[in-house]
Amino acid sequence: MLNPTQYQNLYDGLLKKNIELINSPASYKHCHYLPESYHKIQSKTPKSNWTKEIDHDAICKLTREFGERSIIVKDFVKSEKHKWNEACFIPNASDSDKVAKIVNKFIELRGNSLNEGLVFRQFEALEQLTVHSKSGMPLTKEFRIFFAYKKIVKVFYYWDEGDYGETKPELDHFVEIAKTIDSDFFTMDIAKKKNGDWIIMELGDGQVAGLPDNADRHEFYYKLKQSIPKSSS
Ligand SMILES: Nc1ncnc2c1ncn2[C@@H]1O[C@H](COP(=O)(O)OP(=O)(O)O)[C@@H](O)[C@H]1O
Ligand SMILES: [Mg+2]
Repeated sequence: MLNPTQYQNLYDGLLKKNIELINSPASYKHCHYLPESYHKIQSKTPKSNWTKEIDHDAICKLTREFGERSIIVKDFVKSEKHKWNEACFIPNASDSDKVAKIVNKFIELRGNSLNEGLVFRQFEALEQLTVHSKSGMPLTKEFRIFFAYKKIVKVFYYWDEGDYGETKPELDHFVEIAKTIDSDFFTMDIAKKKNGDWIIMELGDGQVAGLPDNADRHEFYYKLKQSIPKSSS
Protein backbone atom coordinates (compact mmCIF):
# COMPACT_ATOMS: atom_id res chain seq x y z
CA MET A 1 0.00 0.00 0.00
CA LEU A 2 1.20 3.50 -0.78
CA ASN A 3 1.93 5.76 2.16
CA PRO A 4 0.30 9.21 2.06
CA THR A 5 3.43 10.89 0.64
CA GLN A 6 3.70 8.33 -2.15
CA TYR A 7 0.00 8.74 -2.84
CA GLN A 8 0.37 12.51 -2.98
CA ASN A 9 3.19 12.13 -5.54
CA LEU A 10 1.14 9.72 -7.64
CA TYR A 11 -1.88 11.99 -7.41
CA ASP A 12 0.06 15.10 -8.46
CA GLY A 13 1.88 13.28 -11.25
CA LEU A 14 -1.33 11.91 -12.72
CA LEU A 15 -3.07 15.26 -12.43
CA LYS A 16 -0.38 16.73 -14.69
CA LYS A 17 -1.52 14.17 -17.24
CA ASN A 18 -5.17 15.17 -16.72
CA ILE A 19 -5.99 12.07 -14.73
CA GLU A 20 -7.67 12.71 -11.39
CA LEU A 21 -7.71 9.85 -8.93
CA ILE A 22 -11.00 9.22 -7.17
CA ASN A 23 -9.68 10.30 -3.75
CA SER A 24 -7.69 13.42 -2.89
CA PRO A 25 -4.48 12.84 -0.87
CA ALA A 26 -6.37 14.07 2.23
CA SER A 27 -9.14 11.52 1.65
CA TYR A 28 -6.57 8.78 1.15
CA LYS A 29 -4.95 9.54 4.49
CA HIS A 30 -8.32 9.80 6.24
CA CYS A 31 -9.10 6.12 5.72
CA HIS A 32 -5.53 4.82 5.60
CA TYR A 33 -4.48 5.88 9.12
CA LEU A 34 -6.82 4.70 11.87
CA PRO A 35 -6.23 7.78 14.08
CA GLU A 36 -7.43 10.05 11.25
CA SER A 37 -10.95 8.64 11.10
CA TYR A 38 -11.23 7.24 14.62
CA HIS A 39 -13.49 10.09 15.78
CA LYS A 40 -15.97 9.25 13.02
CA ILE A 41 -16.24 5.54 13.84
CA GLN A 42 -15.66 5.78 17.58
CA SER A 43 -19.21 4.77 18.58
CA LYS A 44 -18.87 1.48 16.69
CA THR A 45 -15.20 0.52 16.96
CA PRO A 46 -13.06 -0.83 19.82
CA LYS A 47 -11.64 1.84 22.14
CA SER A 48 -8.23 2.79 20.78
CA ASN A 49 -5.31 5.05 21.60
CA TRP A 50 -2.04 5.73 19.85
CA THR A 51 1.39 7.32 19.96
CA LYS A 52 4.01 8.39 17.48
CA GLU A 53 6.61 8.29 20.22
CA ILE A 54 7.69 4.71 20.65
CA ASP A 55 9.20 4.59 24.10
CA HIS A 56 8.57 2.78 27.36
CA ASP A 57 6.72 5.66 29.06
CA ALA A 58 4.36 6.32 26.18
CA ILE A 59 3.56 2.62 25.84
CA CYS A 60 2.90 2.26 29.60
CA LYS A 61 0.66 5.33 29.68
CA LEU A 62 -1.48 4.08 26.81
CA THR A 63 -1.78 0.45 27.88
CA ARG A 64 -2.64 1.47 31.45
CA GLU A 65 -5.87 3.00 30.13
CA PHE A 66 -7.14 -0.51 29.40
CA GLY A 67 -6.74 -1.79 32.95
CA GLU A 68 -6.57 -5.59 32.96
CA ARG A 69 -8.42 -6.03 29.71
CA SER A 70 -7.04 -7.79 26.65
CA ILE A 71 -5.79 -5.55 23.86
CA ILE A 72 -4.21 -5.79 20.43
CA VAL A 73 -1.32 -3.76 19.01
CA LYS A 74 -0.94 -2.51 15.45
CA ASP A 75 0.58 0.50 13.69
CA PHE A 76 -1.51 3.29 12.11
CA VAL A 77 -2.36 0.90 9.22
CA LYS A 78 -1.43 -2.73 9.76
CA SER A 79 -1.19 -5.39 12.41
CA GLU A 80 0.91 -8.55 12.53
CA LYS A 81 -2.29 -10.59 12.82
CA HIS A 82 -0.72 -13.75 11.45
CA LYS A 83 1.70 -13.66 14.37
CA TRP A 84 -1.31 -13.37 16.68
CA ASN A 85 0.19 -14.72 19.92
CA GLU A 86 3.72 -13.37 19.43
CA ALA A 87 3.10 -9.88 18.02
CA CYS A 88 -0.57 -8.88 18.10
CA PHE A 89 -2.68 -10.10 21.02
CA ILE A 90 -1.88 -8.96 24.56
CA PRO A 91 -3.97 -10.98 27.05
CA ASN A 92 -3.69 -8.51 29.94
CA ALA A 93 -2.84 -4.83 29.34
CA SER A 94 -1.55 -4.44 32.92
CA ASP A 95 1.13 -7.11 32.44
CA SER A 96 3.93 -4.73 31.48
CA ASP A 97 6.49 -7.46 30.76
CA LYS A 98 4.16 -9.15 28.32
CA VAL A 99 3.22 -5.78 26.76
CA ALA A 100 6.91 -5.01 26.18
CA LYS A 101 7.57 -8.48 24.72
CA ILE A 102 4.68 -8.36 22.25
CA VAL A 103 5.25 -4.73 21.26
CA ASN A 104 8.98 -5.33 20.70
CA LYS A 105 8.24 -8.33 18.52
CA PHE A 106 5.64 -6.31 16.61
CA ILE A 107 8.14 -3.49 15.99
CA GLU A 108 10.82 -5.97 14.94
CA LEU A 109 8.48 -7.68 12.46
CA ARG A 110 7.18 -4.42 10.98
CA GLY A 111 10.79 -3.21 10.55
CA ASN A 112 11.01 -0.40 7.99
CA SER A 113 7.36 -0.87 7.11
CA LEU A 114 6.12 0.50 10.42
CA ASN A 115 3.49 3.15 9.69
CA GLU A 116 3.77 6.26 11.87
CA GLY A 117 3.47 4.78 15.36
CA LEU A 118 1.64 2.36 17.63
CA VAL A 119 -2.09 1.85 18.12
CA PHE A 120 -3.57 -0.11 21.03
CA ARG A 121 -7.13 -1.37 20.81
CA GLN A 122 -9.41 -3.03 23.28
CA PHE A 123 -9.89 -6.66 22.32
CA GLU A 124 -13.52 -7.62 21.65
CA ALA A 125 -14.68 -11.22 21.77
CA LEU A 126 -15.87 -11.94 18.25
CA GLU A 127 -17.97 -14.78 16.92
CA GLN A 128 -15.63 -17.57 15.92
CA LEU A 129 -15.41 -18.81 12.33
CA THR A 130 -12.40 -21.14 12.23
CA VAL A 131 -8.62 -20.91 12.60
CA HIS A 132 -6.43 -19.84 9.70
CA SER A 133 -5.10 -22.92 7.94
CA LYS A 134 -1.57 -21.49 7.62
CA SER A 135 -0.99 -19.15 10.57
CA GLY A 136 -3.38 -20.63 13.14
CA MET A 137 -4.80 -17.17 13.85
CA PRO A 138 -8.42 -17.25 15.12
CA LEU A 139 -10.72 -16.23 12.27
CA THR A 140 -13.95 -14.50 13.17
CA LYS A 141 -17.11 -13.47 11.36
CA GLU A 142 -15.91 -10.41 9.50
CA PHE A 143 -17.15 -8.74 6.32
CA ARG A 144 -15.56 -6.17 4.00
CA ILE A 145 -17.91 -3.52 2.68
CA PHE A 146 -16.82 -1.38 -0.28
CA PHE A 147 -18.39 2.08 -0.42
CA ALA A 148 -18.23 4.36 -3.45
CA TYR A 149 -19.78 7.81 -3.29
CA LYS A 150 -21.26 6.90 0.11
CA LYS A 151 -23.20 3.92 -1.24
CA ILE A 152 -22.47 0.22 -0.85
CA VAL A 153 -20.86 -1.35 -3.91
CA LYS A 154 -20.53 -4.84 -2.49
CA VAL A 155 -20.29 -6.73 0.80
CA PHE A 156 -17.79 -9.61 0.87
CA TYR A 157 -16.93 -12.33 3.31
CA TYR A 158 -13.60 -11.08 4.67
CA TRP A 159 -12.09 -14.54 5.06
CA ASP A 160 -11.94 -17.20 2.40
CA GLU A 161 -12.02 -20.02 4.91
CA GLY A 162 -14.72 -21.18 7.31
CA ASP A 163 -18.49 -21.33 7.13
CA TYR A 164 -20.31 -18.04 7.76
CA GLY A 165 -23.60 -19.96 7.97
CA GLU A 166 -26.63 -17.69 8.09
CA THR A 167 -24.66 -14.73 9.47
CA LYS A 168 -25.57 -11.52 7.65
CA PRO A 169 -24.56 -8.07 8.87
CA GLU A 170 -27.12 -5.45 9.76
CA LEU A 171 -25.93 -2.58 7.61
CA ASP A 172 -28.16 0.44 8.29
CA HIS A 173 -26.06 1.99 11.01
CA PHE A 174 -22.84 1.45 9.05
CA VAL A 175 -24.32 3.12 5.99
CA GLU A 176 -25.12 6.15 8.16
CA ILE A 177 -21.53 6.28 9.45
CA ALA A 178 -20.19 5.82 5.91
CA LYS A 179 -21.96 9.03 4.89
CA THR A 180 -19.71 10.94 7.31
CA ILE A 181 -16.42 9.49 6.00
CA ASP A 182 -14.37 11.94 3.91
CA SER A 183 -13.65 9.60 1.02
CA ASP A 184 -15.31 8.68 -2.27
CA PHE A 185 -14.04 5.11 -2.29
CA PHE A 186 -13.21 3.16 0.83
CA THR A 187 -13.67 -0.11 2.66
CA MET A 188 -15.22 -0.69 6.05
CA ASP A 189 -14.40 -4.01 7.71
CA ILE A 190 -17.04 -5.08 10.21
CA ALA A 191 -17.20 -7.97 12.65
CA LYS A 192 -19.81 -9.70 14.78
CA LYS A 193 -19.23 -9.81 18.51
CA LYS A 194 -20.11 -12.85 20.57
CA ASN A 195 -22.92 -10.84 22.19
CA GLY A 196 -24.46 -10.26 18.74
CA ASP A 197 -23.41 -6.60 18.29
CA TRP A 198 -21.59 -5.53 15.15
CA ILE A 199 -18.45 -3.37 15.23
CA ILE A 200 -16.15 -1.65 12.76
CA MET A 201 -12.71 -3.23 12.67
CA GLU A 202 -11.09 -0.67 10.39
CA LEU A 203 -11.47 1.51 7.31
CA GLY A 204 -9.18 1.43 4.29
CA ASP A 205 -8.81 3.32 1.03
CA GLY A 206 -10.75 1.46 -1.66
CA GLN A 207 -7.91 1.75 -4.17
CA VAL A 208 -5.45 -0.26 -2.11
CA ALA A 209 -7.80 -2.61 -0.24
CA GLY A 210 -7.63 -6.23 -1.29
CA LEU A 211 -10.53 -8.08 -2.84
CA PRO A 212 -11.01 -11.40 -1.06
CA ASP A 213 -10.32 -14.51 -3.16
CA ASN A 214 -14.04 -15.29 -2.96
CA ALA A 215 -14.87 -12.08 -4.86
CA ASP A 216 -16.42 -12.17 -8.32
CA ARG A 217 -14.11 -9.56 -9.85
CA HIS A 218 -16.16 -8.93 -12.97
CA GLU A 219 -19.28 -8.32 -10.94
CA PHE A 220 -17.39 -6.06 -8.53
CA TYR A 221 -15.88 -3.81 -11.17
CA TYR A 222 -19.16 -3.68 -13.05
CA LYS A 223 -20.95 -2.53 -9.88
CA LEU A 224 -18.20 -0.06 -9.12
CA LYS A 225 -18.55 1.48 -12.56
CA GLN A 226 -22.30 1.70 -12.10
CA SER A 227 -21.88 3.52 -8.81
CA ILE A 228 -19.86 6.38 -10.31
CA PRO A 229 -22.12 9.40 -10.86
CA LYS A 230 -22.29 10.39 -14.52
CA SER A 231 -20.81 13.82 -13.75
CA SER A 232 -17.61 12.20 -12.39
CA SER A 233 -17.02 9.64 -15.13
N1 LIG B 1 -9.94 -5.04 18.85
C1 LIG B 1 -10.03 -6.27 18.35
N2 LIG B 1 -10.80 -7.21 18.93
C2 LIG B 1 -10.87 -8.46 18.40
N3 LIG B 1 -10.21 -8.86 17.28
C3 LIG B 1 -9.43 -7.95 16.66
C4 LIG B 1 -9.30 -6.61 17.15
N4 LIG B 1 -8.49 -5.95 16.33
C5 LIG B 1 -8.11 -6.81 15.39
N5 LIG B 1 -8.66 -8.03 15.57
C6 LIG B 1 -8.50 -9.20 14.71
O1 LIG B 1 -7.26 -9.07 14.04
C7 LIG B 1 -7.46 -8.89 12.63
C8 LIG B 1 -6.50 -7.86 12.10
O2 LIG B 1 -6.79 -6.59 12.63
P1 LIG B 1 -6.86 -5.31 11.70
O3 LIG B 1 -7.05 -4.13 12.58
O4 LIG B 1 -7.87 -5.50 10.63
O5 LIG B 1 -5.39 -5.26 11.10
P2 LIG B 1 -4.86 -5.43 9.60
O6 LIG B 1 -4.82 -4.04 9.10
O7 LIG B 1 -3.52 -6.03 9.75
O8 LIG B 1 -5.82 -6.28 8.82
C9 LIG B 1 -8.92 -8.49 12.46
O9 LIG B 1 -9.40 -8.86 11.20
C10 LIG B 1 -9.57 -9.24 13.63
O10 LIG B 1 -9.80 -10.59 13.27
MG1 LIG C 1 -7.76 -5.80 8.57
